[in-house]
This record gives sequence, structure tokens and C-alpha cells, in this order.
Amino acid sequence: DLILHNGEFIREEDLVISKEDRGYQFGDGIYEVIRVYDGNLFTAKEHIDRFYDSADKIKIVIPYTKDVFHKMIYDFVEVNNIETGQVYVQITRGAAERQHQFPTQATPVITGNTKSVERPVASLNSGVTAKFIEDIRWLRCDIKSLNLLGNVLAKQEAYEEGFFEAILHRGETVTEGCSSNMYGIKNGILYTHPANNLILNGITRRVILELCEELEIPVEERPFTKTEALEMDEFIMSSTTTEVMPVVAIGDHKIGHGVPGELTRKLQTAFEARIQ
Ligand code: PDD
Repeated sequence: DLILHNGEFIREEDLVISKEDRGYQFGDGIYEVIRVYDGNLFTAKEHIDRFYDSADKIKIVIPYTKDVFHKMIYDFVEVNNIETGQVYVQITRGAAERQHQFPTQATPVITGNTKSVERPVASLNSGVTAKFIEDIRWLRCDIKSLNLLGNVLAKQEAYEEGFFEAILHRGETVTEGCSSNMYGIKNGILYTHPANNLILNGITRRVILELCEELEIPVEERPFTKTEALEMDEFIMSSTTTEVMPVVAIGDHKIGHGVPGELTRKLQTAFEARIQ
């Protein structure tokens, strides 16, 4: 497969990245992951808007209009013949002699790759387990930053203990996952953390909130506690790669009956209808 480099599709062996690239040295950049279903980009506009918003928040100027960039990503998927898979794309502030403040002369560097990957059908059916881990990240989690150490360390801890995801919490308050958003359902109401600086406003999250409206499931965007989480009837995590994923246990504590719940199934069915 070809890779994306500054607007061109090249062979991976032809890619040259400077050791002084600020993405490499500081994590000074942002990224997106977009899903491809049946050769089509899913919610591309939303991902591209967020890519531009994240860049704007860290003062990186993307050297293309959104339309040009959208077409680039579209062509990228086509050139690599991706049917079911994903596109990863990132932009860094570029290469310059190492200093913390922004360099006066640096050209942003965009790289990306595509990957064929099936939908996680088995996990979507059975559900997954997760564990609570303290959220030690910074206070701008709304930016889809390349700085992911807090996320990486939490995911590794969860993974080593056999859990699929970490449920991050600041003190008693549940925020989100390492690479997903979190929701609890109690007495027919869906709860999720409001989209502020403490979480990434997931594109899948936005789709889920729309589906709730369609299905007439009431939503409360408000923080909930770890104790409330354990007492939910149903629990869900969501992301571009994991879709509407049932969480059937937190640590060794079963959620509800320990199987995906009724409203979770409804949301999954409605989500599948969207991607077809
Ligand atoms: N992660 N929260 C965090 C911290 C994330 O990294 C992600 C996505 C989400 C869900 O966002 P969306 O629904 O737009 O994918 C929430 C991507 C998939 C990743 O890092 O691979």
C-alpha cells in the first residue's frame, strides 16, 4: 500500500522524516482515524472538521482547503483499494532545531496510511470488559493530540490485566476511555460525560447521541461517578474502530446481567443501519 506524505501517495521506503520533526520530539501535532465501510469514508466531514479544529487549537495551519484535503483522503482510500478498513492521518508542526517555542520557519508535515481491517464482530456480540484507571492526562483532552502517553500507559495497564479498555476517571468522575468514549444506561436514560475539555468529542459519540434521539432514548450529558457506573443497567464504549461496544463488566463487577443489554442492542442495530 502507498502512504500519504504532504499530498502525495508514495512508497513507504521513499518516506524521509527528519529526526528534528516536532511530532517525533514533542508530540507536537494532531491526528484523525476515519473508518471505511464498503469503500466509503464514514462521517468523513465530521472527522475532517475535527482535524482542522484540533490543528487550529494548537496553531498549526493545514496548507489545504477542507475540500482539497477531503478529496486527498478519498483518493488515498481509492488508490489503496480499501473496502473495509481505516485511514490514519496526522500533521506535525514540522522540522526545526529543537526548541520548545514554535520555530519561525517550519513547514507542517502530513503523513498517513490506510489499513484493511474487519469490523470487530465477535466483541460487538459478546461485549468486552474494562477497568477503572485514574485519568492522569492534561486538561485539553478535546484536542486529538499526538501526545498520548497518559492514554498509552493506562491502556497498557488494562491490557496486561486482560481488559479491553480502561475507564478513565478524575477522582470519582468517569471521563472517557483511552481511545473511546464511555456511556452508562440506567432506567432507560443514557448518561455520558459532556463534551468539554476533559474528553474528546468522539464522532461515534455524536452518532450515538443522534441515534438516541431517533430511538427516543433520553440522554443526559453529565458526568457520572465510578459508583454510579457500577450500578448502571448497561454500559457502552464507542470509537471509530470499536463502534457501539458493550462493556459487560468493570473489573470483576458485572454490569446488569453481564451480557449486552436491550438498549445497547438497539443502538448497535441502528448504528449498523447507518454504515450500510
Ligand atoms: N481514538 N476518546 C479518545 C481519547 C480517543 O482517542 C478516541 C478515538 C475517542 C473516540 O472518538 P471517535 O468516535 O471520533 O473515534 C474518544 C482513535 C480511534 C484512536 O486513537 O485510534
